[in-house]
Order: sequence, then C-alpha cells, then structure tokens
Amino acid sequence: MTTVRINASDAVSIETSALIIGVHTTPEGPRPAPGGEGLDQALDGRLAGILTTMGFTGKAEEVVKIPTLGALPAPVAVAVGLGDAPQAAPQDGPEDGYDLETLRRAAGAAVRSLAGTASAALALPARTAAEAEAVALGGLLGAYDFTRYRTGGDRKPPVGELTVLSGAAGAEEAVAHAATLADAVTLVRDLVNTPPSDLWPARFAEIAQETGGEAGLSVEVLDEVRLKEDGYGGIIGVGQGSVNPPRLVRVAYSHPEAGRKVAFVGKGITFDSGGLSLKPSASMDWMKSDMGGAGAVFGALLAIARLGLRVNAVGYLCLAENMPSGSAQRPSDVLHTYSGKTVEVLDTDAEGRLVLIDGIARATEDEPDVIIDVATLTGAQIVALGWRTAGVMANDDALREEIVRIAGEQGEGAWGMPLPAELRKGLDSAVADIANLQPERWGSMLAAGIFLREFVPAGVRWAHVDMAGPAFNKGEPHGYTPKGGTGALTRTLVAVAEHYAGNGTSAQAV
Ligand code: BES
Ligand code: MN
Ligand code: ZN
Repeated sequence: MTTVRINASDAVSIETSALIIGVHTTPEGPRPAPGGEGLDQALDGRLAGILTTMGFTGKAEEVVKIPTLGALPAPVAVAVGLGDAPQAAPQDGPEDGYDLETLRRAAGAAVRSLAGTASAALALPARTAAEAEAVALGGLLGAYDFTRYRTGGDRKPPVGELTVLSGAAGAEEAVAHAATLADAVTLVRDLVNTPPSDLWPARFAEIAQETGGEAGLSVEVLDEVRLKEDGYGGIIGVGQGSVNPPRLVRVAYSHPEAGRKVAFVGKGITFDSGGLSLKPSASMDWMKSDMGGAGAVFGALLAIARLGLRVNAVGYLCLAENMPSGSAQRPSDVLHTYSGKTVEVLDTDAEGRLVLIDGIARATEDEPDVIIDVATLTGAQIVALGWRTAGVMANDDALREEIVRIAGEQGEGAWGMPLPAELRKGLDSAVADIANLQPERWGSMLAAGIFLREFVPAGVRWAHVDMAGPAFNKGEPHGYTPKGGTGALTRTLVAVAEHYAGNGTSAQAV
C-alpha cells in the first residue's frame, strides 16, 4: 500500500529515490512548470536541452526519466508532460490556472512509471491546497497494482512512499482527503478485479460488513430467505440460477447535524453470464466487472464515513450472480418485484435493471432527497459514449446536469442523456405491467433508463448512471487509470455527498 505525506521543503534537497517534475510545451521547447525550476538550476540550466535530446516535448502524460548524476540527492528525475502552460488571466494571480485533472493524470502517469522504486517526491505544481490534493490523488491512484494472484515473477511493486512538495495553506488536510479517496477507489478496483470464484454475493456482503463496520457504517444484509419473504422478486429472479444465492446489503451512515439524505443504489452482479439468454464467450470474460456499480456505492459510503461528512447517506448493494441452470429464471417468467409491479423477463441478460428496481424501491422507503443508481447496465452505453464517458439520465434536468458537472470536476467522464417518452411503448408486455427488454436494440441505454424510471415514485428525485464502459479498462493503463477495474464513479458519489453536505465545491445543493 502506497503512503503519501506532505513536505514543504525544497525539491532539490529532499532525500528520495526519484524526483517528479512537470514540464510544459512552449514554442521554444520544453519548460519546467512551477516546482520544477529547482531541478533546472541544479542541472545548470541544461534541463530543456536534456529533455529535447531525449525527444521529450512536454505533451500531456509524456514521461521521461533522466539521471541526476549527483546534482541532487534523488538519483533519478522524472519529467512528466503537462501540455501548454495554463493561460491565467492577469487578474487571476499566480494561484490560478491548473486544470486539476491534468495534474492528477500527470502525477498518475509519472508514479506508474516508477514501479520498483522505493519512494518518490512530487514537485508538480501544488501552490494551492486543491493542486496539492490533485497531485496526491493522481500519484496514489497511479501507484495501484493488483498482485494478489501472482506467484512471483519479475513484476515490480508500486512506489512505496510518496511525498507531495507543497507549502500551500490547507495542503495537509487536502492530502489526507486525497488519501481517503484513494483508499476507497483502491478497494473498489480490488473488488472488481477479484475473480468471481472469490467474490460471490455472500462474500461481498461479508466484506461490506467487516470493512463497513470498521469505518462506522451500519450494515444490514438480507439473505435469500429474507429477500424471498419480503418480496424482492427482482433480486431473487436474477440470483436463483446460481449456487451462490443473492444478497441485498444496506449500508448506512448518519451525521447528527445532517440536513439532507442521499441514497445510492449499485448494480452488483458478481458475474454476468447472461443467464439462460447466455452471452457469447467474448462478451463474458470480463463480466466479473458487472458489480462495479455496487463497488462504487460501497467505496463511496466508506469514504463518506471516514471523512465524517455532515450528511446522511445510505447505499444499497444489489448482489446476485446471473447464471444459467435448471433453477434459473426463464425468458417469459414474470417477477413480482418489491415495488409491487410485475415484470416479464424477456431476456435474462437484461438482469441489472431487475436487481436495481428492488434496490430503488427499497431506497424510497428511506425518504432521501435524491436517489442515484450506478450500474454497468448496457453495452449500448459503450456504443454511444465509448469507454470513458458514463451516461447520466434523470427524472429531473437540474439533477442530471448537477451530476454531470460534479463528475467532470472529479475528472470522471459523464454526459447527460435523454429519456425519450416514445421509448416506453417498446417495453409493453403482453402479460405483465412491463417487460425488461424492448424488441429493438436502438437506444437501449435510454430504454433501460426508461424502464428504471417506471419504478421511481412521483416526487422522488432520481438519477441513473450507466457506467458499463468506465468501470473496467480493457486497454492499456493511462494517467492514473490502471488496466482492469478502475473504481469509476466512486469519487463522483463522494463529491455528490459533499455537495449535499454543503461542504463541496458549490455553496448550495439544489
Ligand atoms: N452487464 C451487461 C452490460 C455490459 C456490457 C456491461 C458490456 C459492461 C460491458 C448487462 O447486463 C447486459 O447484458 N446488457 C444487455 C442488455 C440487453 C439484453 C437489453 C446489453 O447491453 O447487451
Ligand atoms: Mn446482462
Ligand atoms: Zn449485467
């Protein structure tokens, strides 16, 4: 586990295995960003020349290592590109300008390149607490690796100890905040990366009880007997084909002076084979990530409790394994869901919405100010928005835009999507209140949103985040994002809770 601390000392005097600096592109060549000037001086002004010789221009996330040959205690310096220098308007003063996501990604890329190194000092721009937090967070998230299942080999461990160089007021608290967020995201990544043979619904529930309990959350687990008794037909239907029965976990945090309550509902399919509507193999081998929504909800609740936010927060983890078997639900089965409505299951692979509607119906009993569900719900999200941008739908335009904005501030891609009324007709069932699938594939991210909306009572503010792409990185690492589980949306949910607590970046929650 990588640790982080803050230090106001000079970049060139610090004892560390590697010194990380930021570099800008300019028409005259690469130029050190604030924090990096000391290195240039220690190298007698030759930094730009060295970088240019190495073919380094300062483009965002470009990384190059240079030996310091005794010019400073750190044997290696790492230059990471920050792109063009921010254009600060004159009235903004020296404090202004850095896009925080640029700093997070640069810190992440630099730290990731240093696997096998004991320690690193980050001399990236950190003149404000927000910049110091971004550098710390990017560095910690970039240091992630999932090694639990490796039995040796020559894989180098992540950097053990990070030091953020900053003398900014409030940097100490800001870096502690970053560490809390990074811990939560790390746990979510681990959960997503864990193979389904080691993470089934009851095991996830156990982890929630243990880890949540330590963080001061109250955790309640409904097992398959209780779920059946209490009428959670959606979760039971999806889970009944597996030897690993489903669970609904309620995780709650409260603050004595809280004025508002947020409810988060996460899709927690620990493995999605499709059920009897079986997926082709190529679509199945990464379906351990289908619990990424429940992971984000749980990680967010952990961080909210550890930060002691002045808000009430409740999370629902809708956990089931979607498997084909003699006991599995059949296409054309009708489910009696917790809301009281019946659903005809036309396709057992459209299972996420079935577990979510039970979670949403249960969440309304908590009478929250807002319900947000997060789910790896549709392949159509990836078709529409790609791997890194989640789709945000809501029954309230202001809420949808608020979530898109908050996600953007965290550097998590999200984009508002409509819920066109004409798509409702496609969900008509010949026998039940609604079908879980529209007959055509066009617009199926939106149709899934329309389906969910049917289970949100009038007057309840609700948003749905489809994060099928962002939850899992099938490609190469980039910035602070590793291959595999990303922990996407965890930080956005924490920021939403901060917004409703009134200590977020916005003064007032709508
Ligand atoms: N878990 C999948 C969606 C998914 C696809 C997540 C790719 C991550 C990456 C979901 O349960 C599913 O199977 N959705 C179907 C719905 C369809 C049957 C209406 C889909 O998107 O194909
Ligand atoms: Mn599915
Ligand atoms: Zn699924």
